[in-house]
Amino acid sequence: MDLDSVIETAATKAASAQDLAALDLVDSEMLGRQSVIAEARRQLGKMAPVDRPMAGARLNEITAAVTAVLKSRRTELEHLEADRLLSDDRVDVTLEAWKGGQGTEHLIGQTIQEICDIFVGLGYRVAEGPEAELGWYNFDALNTPPTHPARLESDTLYLDYGDPADEILLRTHTSPMQARYMETHDPPVYVVVPGKVYRNEATDASHLPVFHQIEGLAVDEGITMSDLKGTLAHFAREYLGPRTKVQLRPDFFPFTEPSAQLLVSCFNCDGEDPGCRVCGGSGWFEVLGCGMVDPNVLTAVGYDPGRLTGFAFGMGVERLAMVRHGITHIRHFVENDLRVLEQFRA
Ligand code: DAH
Repeated sequence: MDLDSVIETAATKAASAQDLAALDLVDSEMLGRQSVIAEARRQLGKMAPVDRPMAGARLNEITAAVTAVLKSRRTELEHLEADRLLSDDRVDVTLEAWKGGQGTEHLIGQTIQEICDIFVGLGYRVAEGPEAELGWYNFDALNTPPTHPARLESDTLYLDYGDPADEILLRTHTSPMQARYMETHDPPVYVVVPGKVYRNEATDASHLPVFHQIEGLAVDEGITMSDLKGTLAHFAREYLGPRTKVQLRPDFFPFTEPSAQLLVSCFNCDGEDPGCRVCGGSGWFEVLGCGMVDPNVLTAVGYDPGRLTGFAFGMGVERLAMVRHGITHIRHFVENDLRVLEQFRA
């Protein structure tokens, strides 16, 4: 490259530099220590003194021209770069915002809330109790002697097993709160108790080792079995629909006498579908256990069974939610599959 063509070469190379890094290379090639211009400047010293001023002036002109060419390309590339950054970073304000992530209360929580509300509407209070319970409250205070089969290690999850007087266990029902509540409250008592219960049980379509119950207890002067039936009929109509009919069928529980199970008419098929998922074609399905509080239970907590009577009931929350919402396997409550949970927004 001779000195005459340096400006033209600089212009061509600058124009083909596509970014600032490439232009930096052109810059050092054209003006750096290895450049034709730098070499020419070194040669100036060897020239005859008379020739130096003209050659020097010409060299300065060329250097200025090359510098100007590079500078103008630099400005151009800087603008292009700024435009590119702007368009890369562009925010599309018309894009729809992310709307996910809004949670909802689990169906079991919603069901507990709804059922407790029905009883609160009748003047009941809501109480909760411990899940790790003394054998005394889970069994003895509820008229269930140490020889009762439910007390076997195979049925109950014990934290401390052996001497019946000191047993500690995971409560197998919410009924121990009957005794705890009466011990700490004077009559009259109207209370519902929701909570988790535990059983040494294998999982199938309708059983889990951990599930939820709601206990109910009413103790007052003059309470009869018709109060029990009227109260539970009201509950059934509120929760399952106003056309629901109820039926009490004799049963046995150690802590109620007499004891019964509450059956309700099938809201799903009205008894017309022999293969009904809810009633199996019988037209009725069982929703809870209940009965008149055994006088022995009142005595165990220091209440006077000569003056007071009462009724109690206990229901399984999962079972009720399953029949009402058409859920066919109990595992859907614990698998946390969003496709299931999202169907039950509060
Ligand atoms: N605790 C019983 C169970 O888990 C249910 C029950 C039956 C509760 C009768 C009651 C009752 O309060 O009176 O199977």
